[in-house]
Formats: sequence, C-alpha cells, structure tokens
Amino acid sequence: MIKLEGVTKKFPGMEKPAVDDLNLEIKKGDVCVLVGPSGCGKTTTMKMINRIYEPTEGSIYIDGKDALKMNPIKLRLDIGYVIQEIGLFPHMTIEDNVSTVPKEKKWPKDKAMKQVNEMLTLVGLDPEIYGKRYPSALSGGQRQRVGVARAMVSDPPIMLMDEPFGAVDPITRAKLQNEFLRIQERIGKTIVFVTHDIDEAIKMGDTIAVMREGRLIQHDTPSDLLSSPADEFVSNLVGRNRSIKRLHLIRIHEILGEFDRPTPATEDMALHEVKKRIDESDIRSVMIVDRDNKLKGIIGINDLKRKTGAVAADIMQELDQSVTSDATLNDALSVMLEVGEGYVAVVNEDDQYQGTITLGDLLNVVKEEG
Ligand SMILES: Nc1ncnc2c1ncn2[C@@H]1O[C@H](COP(=O)(O)OP(=O)(O)O)[C@@H](O)[C@H]1O
Ligand SMILES: [Mg+2]
Repeated sequence: MIKLEGVTKKFPGMEKPAVDDLNLEIKKGDVCVLVGPSGCGKTTTMKMINRIYEPTEGSIYIDGKDALKMNPIKLRLDIGYVIQEIGLFPHMTIEDNVSTVPKEKKWPKDKAMKQVNEMLTLVGLDPEIYGKRYPSALSGGQRQRVGVARAMVSDPPIMLMDEPFGAVDPITRAKLQNEFLRIQERIGKTIVFVTHDIDEAIKMGDTIAVMREGRLIQHDTPSDLLSSPADEFVSNLVGRNRSIKRLHLIRIHEILGEFDRPTPATEDMALHEVKKRIDESDIRSVMIVDRDNKLKGIIGINDLKRKTGAVAADIMQELDQSVTSDATLNDALSVMLEVGEGYVAVVNEDDQYQGTITLGDLLNVVKEEG
C-alpha cells in the first residue's frame, strides 16, 4: 500500500540527511509505527508521504502509483493527518474543524454534516453536545478525539498520525489508544503512526520501524522486535524488562476467562448473600452491579465488618477506575498502580462488568511468558 524506496531527505545547511536511504513497505490495513529518539527523522518521513516535504532522492509509491507524480493537494485530501492538538483551528467550532476536508472536496452540505456527525459519534463525542463548541471548551483528550475524527471524515484509505496522543495524561492516553484500536479494527485503514515511546509502539503497531539518525534499523512485528532485536540500539530501546513489556501485547479479554472469580452481586442483594459471594472468592471482595450488569461499586470483607445496612447498595464503595476488556494487561497494571489496589474491574464499552484482573494474574502471565 505504501512503499518507500531509497528515500533520502537533506535539508539545506544540514550536514547529515534527516532521512537516509529509507526502504519501507507498509501493507494495506496495517498500522506501522515509526519509533526512535527525537530528531531521528520520523516526522520528516511522514511529511514526505503526504508531500509536505519533497524527498531529495528516492521514490514513494501509494497503491502502486508514484506519489511524487500525483497532484500534492489532491494526494493530501486522500491522506488523513493527525498531529498533536495544535492541529485544531481555535476560532472554528468542532463541527467546522471536522468539516474542513469535506468543504475542500466540495461535498454537498447535508452529506458533509451527516459524515461529520457520524465521525464525532464514532470517536465518542456527541455531536449535539460538542458540535457547536470551540476547541478551548474541550479537554485535551477530547481535542485529540476531534483531531482523529477530522482525519477520518472523508474516509481516506491512509492515515498519518504524528504523536497523536502525546499531549495527554497517561490514563487518558491509554483510553484514546484503546478507542483508536477499536475503531481501527472496524475501519482497517493503512496507518503510519509516529511515537518516541516504545511502549506505545508495541501496543499500537502491527509492525514497528525503528529509526535512528535518519536510518531504518529494524522493521518487524512487535513480538519479533522483543524477541530478536537487530542490534544493541534496538535492544536498549525495548529495554531490560522484556517479559514485562509483553504485557502490552496481551489484551485483557484474552486471559479474562481463565480465572475463577465470584459472580458479581447486585445492588439490591442482602448482605448475608453478599458475604457468601465474598467467601467463595480468592480476592476477598465482590463487585456490585445493577440490573443491567453495569458496574456500580465494590464491597470488601472489611466493609461488611465495619458498615451496617440491609443490601449491597447501602455499604458498597465506588470504584475509582475500571478498564475495558480490549485494554492491554499493561493498562490494567497502570490503573492498579495509579489507584494503589491489587485488582481492577473489567467492563465492556457499555460499562457492563466482565470480570476482575489482579496483580497476581499479571505476575503469572509475566512468569509464563518470560
Ligand atoms: N524544515 C526543516 N528544516 C531543517 N531541518 C529540519 C526540518 N525539519 C526537520 N529538520 C531536522 O531533521 C531532523 C529530523 O527531524 P524530525 O523528522 O522532525 O525528527 P523526529 O520527528 O524523529 O523527532 C532533525 O535534525 C531536525 O532538526
Ligand atoms: Mg517528530
């Protein structure tokens, strides 16, 4: 789908090329992550694919066609581009921000609006609520979602994403990553994703291209990169704790079925029943759900001892955090460390309870994989 052949970029006055004889092939529907230290040429590579920069040497093919012979304006309209939040126009509403490409493509207004609304919904922003707001009225995470919606709105086959989730806190970042992977499963775009964070690369990539000083050092699947780094630079980049890094490669739903956890209790369940559930459990607590199986809280053995009430809802504690089942084991670990508990509840997209993951479960996985 995207093929770079001997691509070199020299900027005037620079001694070394920013990108040096790069050969890289990205398959249709794959996410290829460019990773490497700051200044190694990731952004330059990306900007040559949509011809913001012209290569000094080499060829770029998109779908077998010579990209350097295409009309660059047209080419860019068919390549979604997401960058850190600076990408949004502050004086334009969210709706207008997302409809810039449809406008340039001169789509009829109703077709554009329908698509804009669909995209905002897809990234989890209700168009009724957010459409008429300005970027400054949104959180960092929400602005990033708008950026993604804008890049996807004209359904381009290719997306370029340059550190798209770099500007938000780690938990929001993990959420955005998971949401994006969920969307990608559905839309199957060919994506070039830039990051300097190897953990993000391992999580997001079907393949990872490690760059250093303008050169491609290794292009492999995350699993191969971890098990057989091409040289010392790559092995330092992936770091010492490779078995822990594998937690990035495993999604919670892949292991959730393996554990015997108590059935959750309902909010209206009598406390002696709740106690029975806890006694059956190896984690000395039980999750509380409502009639739709939505997660409401947790009751631990100490809550039963210290508090009084008739039913579960009277004494349950709210949960600070949960994770979705398509999050990685590493996301689960991050949440446990953040809230300082040895477990985390797992829910689906509708907040319905799916199970519980404990620190012990993660240790077992690391041991097995190690
Ligand atoms: N427009 C430009 N003019 C001159 N030098 C540039 C330009 N853009 C990038 N560079 C240089 O090219 C090298 C690679 O930069 P870049 O591709 O932005 O790296 P990365 O995205 O990996 O951090 C750096 O040394 C940078 O200073
Ligand atoms: Mg960059």
